[in-house]
Amino acid sequence: MKVLEIVLRIFLLSLGITMIYTDQCTDLRNRFANASSEFISCSINYSRPIKFCENCVQQYIYLLESYSNMSKFPANDTPCLNHFINLDRLGIVETLFENSKNLWSRAKCYECFVTSNGVPSTNVSDETLKFNGYYNNFNNCITTNSSNICSKCMEYYTDLQSYYVSISNENEKIGVCMDIVDVMNDTWIYWGVKCCKFRKHNEYIFICSTVMVFILTVSYYILIKLYTTKNSPTIIQQSRFAKVLNSLST
Ligand SMILES: *[C@@H]1O[C@H](CO)[C@@H](O)[C@H](O)[C@H]1NC(C)=O
Ligand SMILES: *[C@@H]1O[C@H](CO)[C@@H](O)[C@H](O)[C@H]1NC(C)=O
Ligand SMILES: *[C@@H]1O[C@H](CO)[C@@H](O)[C@H](O)[C@H]1NC(C)=O
Ligand SMILES: *[C@@H]1O[C@H](CO)[C@@H](O)[C@H](O)[C@H]1NC(C)=O
Ligand SMILES: *[C@@H]1O[C@H](CO)[C@@H](O)[C@H](O)[C@H]1NC(C)=O
Ligand SMILES: *[C@@H]1O[C@H](CO)[C@@H](O)[C@H](O)[C@H]1NC(C)=O
Repeated sequence: MKVLEIVLRIFLLSLGITMIYTDQCTDLRNRFANASSEFISCSINYSRPIKFCENCVQQYIYLLESYSNMSKFPANDTPCLNHFINLDRLGIVETLFENSKNLWSRAKCYECFVTSNGVPSTNVSDETLKFNGYYNNFNNCITTNSSNICSKCMEYYTDLQSYYVSISNENEKIGVCMDIVDVMNDTWIYWGVKCCKFRKHNEYIFICSTVMVFILTVSYYILIKLYTTKNSPTIIQQSRFAKVLNSLST
C-alpha cells in the first residue's frame, strides 16, 4: 500500500513538473506568436513610404529574442523549440521566423543599425547618421527657399547624392539599407521633376544641333562625291570618306 502511494505521488509530481514545463513552453510560444505578429504588422504599416527598418527595429529585436528564448529554455531536457519545429513538414514556427529574418536582411536593415555580436541594436549606424545629416541639409534648403531651389540647393543635392553613391553598392538591387534607398529615390524624383526641365531643354538643343551637323556633313560629302566622280575620281576614291560614302550609297 505504502509503495503504491509513493509511486502515485512520484507520478503526480512528475506530471505536475511536466505541466509546469509545457506551460512555460506555451508561454514562450505565445510570446513568439505575439512578437511575430507585432513585427509583421509593423512591416506592413511602414511599407510605403519605406520607413520599415527605422520603425520596426524594436519589434525585430523582440522577435529574435523570443525565438532565442524558445531555443534556450529546456523542457524535458530538450529546448522548447524542439517541441514546435521539425515535428511536421509544415514547420509553421520555422517558416514564419525565416520569412521575417529574410525580409529584414533583404531590405538590408542591418546596415541602418549598429550590430554587436550579430545582434542588432536600436543604435543608428554612422552611415545612416551621416546620410540623415546630408538629407536634413538638403531638406532645410528646399523648405526654407521658396524660389530658385534648383540653383540654391544644387550643392546640397550633389553632396547628398555623392554620399549616397559612396555608401551604396551599385552591383546590388538594394545597395544599402532600404530606408535610405527609398529616401534617395524620392529625392531623385523630386529633383528630376523640379529641376530637370531646363536640362531636358538643353538636351533637345544638343540633339537637334548634332543632327544638323550630321546632315550638313553628309550632304557636304555627297556633293563632293558627285562633283569629284566627274573630275578626278581616282584620288578621291582612295579617301576614307569616299569609301564610306560608297558603302552607304551601294
Ligand atoms: C502583444 O503583447 C502586448 C503586451 O502583452 C499586447 O499589448 C499586444 O496587443 C500583443 N499583440 C498582439 C498582436 O497580440
Ligand atoms: C502605423 O503607422 C502610423 C504612422 O504612419 C502610426 O501612427 C501607427 O502607430 C502605426 N501602427 C502600428 C501598429 O505600428
Ligand atoms: C527572454 O528571456 C529573458 C530571460 O528569461 C527575459 O528577460 C526576456 O524578457 C525574454 N524575452 C522574450 C521576448 O520573451
Ligand atoms: C548604444 O548607444 C548607447 C548610448 O550611446 C551605448 O551605451 C550602447 O553601448 C550602444 N550599444 C551598442 C550595441 O553599440
Ligand atoms: C536658401 O537656402 C540657403 C541654404 O540653406 C540659405 O542659406 C538661404 O538663407 C535660403 N534663402 C532663403 C530666402 O530662405
Ligand atoms: C523609385 O520610385 C519609383 C516610383 O515610386 C518606383 O517605380 C521605383 O521602383 C523606385 N526605385 C527604387 C530603387 O526603389
